Amino acid sequence: MTQRSCAVYGVGIVCAHLLFIGIGLFVAQVFQTVIHNRLKKELTLTEGSRVFETWKNPPPPIFMQYFFFNVTNPDEFLAGAKPFVSQVGPYTYREYRPKENVTFLENGTRVAAYQCKTFVFLPERSVGDPDIDMITTINIPAVAVMNKVKDSFWKSSLVSIWMNSLHVGMFMTHSVNELLWGFKDPLLSRIHTMNPEIDEYFGLMYKKNGSNDGEVVYHTGEADSMDYGKIARFKGESKLSLWTSELYIFSPDLCRSIFMEFEKDVEVKGLPAYRFTPPRDVLASKEENPANEGFCVSPKECLGSGVLKVSVCKKGAPVVVSFPHFYLGEEKYTNAIEGLSPVREHHQTYLDLNPTTGVPIRASKKAQINILINRISGFPKTKSLNETIFPVMFINEVRSHRLHKNIQLWENITFNLKKIMFYLSTERKFAMTTVIFDCTVSLYRVLCCK
Ligand SMILES: *[C@@H]1O[C@H](CO)[C@@H](O)[C@H](O)[C@H]1NC(C)=O
Ligand SMILES: *[C@@H]1O[C@H](CO)[C@@H](O)[C@H](O)[C@H]1NC(C)=O
Ligand SMILES: *[C@@H]1O[C@H](CO)[C@@H](O)[C@H](O)[C@H]1NC(C)=O
Ligand SMILES: *[C@@H]1O[C@H](CO)[C@@H](O)[C@H](O)[C@H]1NC(C)=O
Ligand SMILES: *[C@@H]1O[C@H](CO)[C@@H](O)[C@H](O)[C@H]1NC(C)=O
Ligand SMILES: *[C@@H]1O[C@H](CO)[C@@H](O)[C@H](O)[C@H]1NC(C)=O
Repeated sequence: MTQRSCAVYGVGIVCAHLLFIGIGLFVAQVFQTVIHNRLKKELTLTEGSRVFETWKNPPPPIFMQYFFFNVTNPDEFLAGAKPFVSQVGPYTYREYRPKENVTFLENGTRVAAYQCKTFVFLPERSVGDPDIDMITTINIPAVAVMNKVKDSFWKSSLVSIWMNSLHVGMFMTHSVNELLWGFKDPLLSRIHTMNPEIDEYFGLMYKKNGSNDGEVVYHTGEADSMDYGKIARFKGESKLSLWTSELYIFSPDLCRSIFMEFEKDVEVKGLPAYRFTPPRDVLASKEENPANEGFCVSPKECLGSGVLKVSVCKKGAPVVVSFPHFYLGEEKYTNAIEGLSPVREHHQTYLDLNPTTGVPIRASKKAQINILINRISGFPKTKSLNETIFPVMFINEVRSHRLHKNIQLWENITFNLKKIMFYLSTERKFAMTTVIFDCTVSLYRVLCCK
């Protein structure tokens, strides 16, 4: 071969490479633009878009499971003995959260809606009939009233007389249905006749069926597709500290945001996932985690690790929240009650995220509601009581996706994309990563309709 033809040959090879790279870059660019536009169209909240219906009627089922602590020795406890409880549950309800009164605002860049919650009982996922099963537990309305009037001799005497004449004690027995969805309480009714502001009814989920949290304004993604579904305003407030980051979960039951940390790799029905859980110091005492001091109402009201007093947000009743069976809490709380045994597998709150897609494939949020009981001056019934954090019930909110096929397919696609990416230049890799990220984010939204 002459030197000249060799040079031509060399230039040819270089040109061919450049051409291939050029085509590659061009295709990648077009691919990205096409995908991006397509996604933008599909993933904008407009009447008729693919995501609109799922956004309006979220399909991933939410199950609320309620477990109660049935007290078996109430009289002995009042005489100074250790209380015995036995766990009864789950009573499972499917929670629906359709969006109602959907109105588009500001040229379609925002959309306002109410999210109404309804609960439907699922007998096949429950241990019994909530109309029949009777639970004996702390008389929460009475404890709340006693705490409220304890500083006034006159009022506490009056309440004490009422409690005696109405045969209201420290414990009450009601059906599961009544405890959850409300019953007419004799003591509250008596107070209601004098002070009509006090509701006659009490229930742990009273008025929650069919309720909404007020109007929420969402971004539609029209202005910026990355904003799709994000909350713009909630009850008129545009700053939402409650939803600051993905792994910060606002838990109304805990009445504060909690954060999650990576714990371990898990497998959910054959899919790999990262498990995130709240670390111990989420509910640590202020000595252990000074950041938690803000959650004590006053320094003297700070309790130990693993429990959190939430009276502020529960209207005065001495409510304390913890994880079920005081999981991650100080041992003294578990030891004070016979019949509790914290087990990580059953009592842990977690979120399992598929690492490739970022889709949460399974989540379980758990919280236990306890009542802080103590000796209350003016009420002889409480004279033999020591300070006890008394468990009433715990809630397990479960979400899992039935869309495993999609996620598996996605795992396969991204696996292939990763192989393609390997051959592309660093810059393209970045572009592809963006596409993949975009798709991932969108898929996550389609599946989770956040
Ligand atoms: C709760 O305890 C009481 C008394 O021990 C018992 O009669 C009742 O059947 C228990 N309730 C349930 C649902 O097991
Ligand atoms: C209540 O507290 C007193 C003093 O700390 C203790 O002697 C007693 O055993 C406690 N009673 C119960 C039921 O824990
Ligand atoms: C939805 O709109 C209807 C009619 O305008 C109104 O009666 C209803 O109260 C609204 N719902 C909510 C939750 O505001
Ligand atoms: C809506 O669109 C019109 C015309 O395109 C524009 O003049 C107006 O400022 C927009 N309004 C908002 C709130 O963006
Ligand atoms: C909640 O309300 C819906 C619709 O009004 C009803 O079908 C359902 O049975 C109610 N759930 C409970 C637990 O009362
Ligand atoms: C993904 O790939 C695995 C093995 O490579 C295969 O068994 C599975 O069927 C694929 N899933 C889908 C949804 O394509």
